[in-house]
Amino acid sequence: MRLGFMASGRGSNVEAIIKSCLSGELNAQPVLVISNHGDAGALELAKHYDLEAFHLSSKTHPDPESLDIAITDAMVEHQIELVVLAGYMRKIGQHLLGRFENRIINIHPSLLPKFGGKGMYGINVHQAVIAAGEQETGATIHLVNAEYDKGKILQQGKVKVLPDDTAESLAKRVLAVEHVLYPDTIKKIIAGEIKL
Ligand code: GRF
Repeated sequence: MRLGFMASGRGSNVEAIIKSCLSGELNAQPVLVISNHGDAGALELAKHYDLEAFHLSSKTHPDPESLDIAITDAMVEHQIELVVLAGYMRKIGQHLLGRFENRIINIHPSLLPKFGGKGMYGINVHQAVIAAGEQETGATIHLVNAEYDKGKILQQGKVKVLPDDTAESLAKRVLAVEHVLYPDTIKKIIAGEIKL
C-alpha cells in the first residue's frame, strides 16, 4: 500500500511509520510527505529517507482551492492509496476528501470523542485532560471527513494519567503510544482487520 503523509511539524509519527516499513514489520511503501511549512521537520525526514517532499501552502498557492487541487494532484500522480495525516494543522479540502473518500486517516492525542474539536491540539489536549481530572487518556486513529475529529474511530491506545503528571509528561507517554498505534493500525487496514 502506497502511503502519502501530510504533516505540519516534527514528524515523529511519520518517522515511526517509515521505520516500521523499513524493518518489514509494515508491508507498505512510504512515498511522499506534504507539509504546509517549508521548514517542517517532517520534510527533512522525507529527504533523509528518500521520499518525495512537497511544501504546499497558502504561500505556494494563495487560492485555497488551487492548493487543495495541488495536494490532490500530488497524491494522485504518486498513486497514493492511503493518506496519512500526522500533525497536519490545516483543514483538508473538498477535492482531497472527494478523491480519497474513506482513504484518509488521522491521529489525535486523546481518547476521542473526548478532548477533540476546535482548539484541541498539541499540549492543549493534555492540559485539558489533567484539568478535567481524567484517570486515563490515550491516542485515537480515525477516518477523516469534513468535520474535525469526528470520523469513524479505527483504533485507540490507552495511557494512565498518574497523580503527578504534567501536560508535558503525559504528552510524552501518549506520543510513545502513538508511535506503536499508528503503524499497527495501518498494518490492520492492510490485513483487512480494520475496515475503512
Ligand atoms: C501528535 O501528537 C498527533 O497526535 C497530533 O499531532 C502530533 C504530531 O506529532 N495529531 P509528530 O509531528 O508526529 O511528532
